[in-house]
This record gives sequence, structure tokens and C-alpha cells, in this order.
Amino acid sequence: MKSAARPLRLGVNIDHVATIRNARGGRHPDPVRAARLAVAAGADGITAHLREDRRHISDGDIERLVRAIDRPLNLEMAATAEMLAIALRHKPHAACLVPEKRSEVTTEGGLDVVAGRDQLAPVVRRLGDAGIRVSLFVDPEAAQLDMARALGAPVVELHTGAYCEAEGAGRERELARLAAAAAHAEKIGLECHAGHGLGYDTVAPVAAIATIVELNIGHFLVGEAIFVGLAGAIERMRALMDAARRGERA
Ligand code: PXP
Repeated sequence: MKSAARPLRLGVNIDHVATIRNARGGRHPDPVRAARLAVAAGADGITAHLREDRRHISDGDIERLVRAIDRPLNLEMAATAEMLAIALRHKPHAACLVPEKRSEVTTEGGLDVVAGRDQLAPVVRRLGDAGIRVSLFVDPEAAQLDMARALGAPVVELHTGAYCEAEGAGRERELARLAAAAAHAEKIGLECHAGHGLGYDTVAPVAAIATIVELNIGHFLVGEAIFVGLAGAIERMRALMDAARRGERA
């Protein structure tokens, strides 16, 4: 008998709603309103990255999101003392630890958990002790997953940027790396998420990897919202994810 596919959750990242708001200052468009709309359109959770330089999401946005959203909030953050204190104050459902460089346009690669283990270990422990589900954003490499497991993180999120940027045979190679890492995560007892750079033309093969249970997607959805509205963009993404999970084409 064929076993039922594990559900695949969609976390909608609303950072770039705040990017547009901040281009002019003021309050419009409000990322909290976008988060509510995303939930109504089929998001299982909301993701927001509070960066050290506050270039998009603000402290006030996090405070309002925690109060306004009745779905899990996934706070993306650097493993710094400042961000740890903020996370412990707001106690989001989940915290995803990401590398952060001031000069980067977006999160360019995964965390080097192996090299950074001494700095990461107390942050993972303190978040976990507070009941916050910790994930580590990593490139699809077994050594990174093994170290995430050793540090006691229950979840890893695989960086899909290299897969999305590659073309042809290179993309196939990157997809195989993601699939192998997702299988390794399952084998060593880690929950596996994935995200970064995903759009309509790249999401299906990742959604078809059965051991990945959550995708976090932002920039493409906010961009596509210009043409079809945020709800329409999320509904289409959901349909593509769900069809791929069932082994169908949408
Ligand atoms: N997951 C993580 C850990 C991220 O840092 C980001 C980007 O903030 C995403 C997912 C979403 O990436 P994108 O905005 O390219 O969809």
C-alpha cells in the first residue's frame, strides 16, 4: 500500500513588503496586513527576518506580528546576543538562525555550523530551553547537518539558492544535493525545511522531495503580487507545491 505523502507547509516570508514600505517611510504597505492576507490565502506560517541593520522588518513589526497572527511565526535571525534577547522576549514559535553580512543583498549562503559551533551552541540551547523551535539555515552538506544534530537543533532549513540560480545539468546536480541532504536529515532525526529563491518554475522538484516538510518563500511572492495580487500568487504557489507533492503537474 502506498503511504500518504507527508503534508508540505508553506511559510510566507513578508520581509519585502516591509522593504517597499521602508522605501518611503510611513506605514504602507503594512507587513502585518500582508501576513493576515497570506494566512487567509493558504500560508501555514509567517516568516520574517529581523536583520541587524533593520533594512526591512522592524522591531515593531515583530511585536505586532506576534500579537496579530494565529499561525506559527518563524523569526529569522543572526546568532547574536541582541537577536537572542529579542527572540526570548517575543517567543516566536520558531527561530531560524541565518548568517548575516551587512554588505549582502540577501542571505547568500548557509550557516557554517561546523566552524561556528562554539558561537551557535549556547544560542541553540537558550532558544530551545525557551520552547522556541530552532532551525539552522544550511547548505545541503552532510557535515553541516551532522553538526546541527550534535548541537541539538531539531530542524534544518536547506538553502535552495544555488539550485535556483543554476541552469540545465547544474540545476539537476543541485537538486540531487538537496535530495541527498533531505534524506540524510531524515536518517539522523532532523526535520527538514527548504527555501531561498524559489519561484513558480523551481518549486515543484523541491516540493516533490518527500522528507522536506516546509518551504519558506518570500521575494518571488511579493514580486508576483504586483501582477496578480498577494493572495493569487500564494494560491498558485500552493497549487504547484501540492500537485508536486502528489506526484502531479499543476
Ligand atoms: N529561508 C531563509 C532562511 C531566508 O533567509 C530567506 C530569505 O530571507 C528565505 C527562506 C526566503 O527567500 P526568498 O525571499 O528568496 O524566497
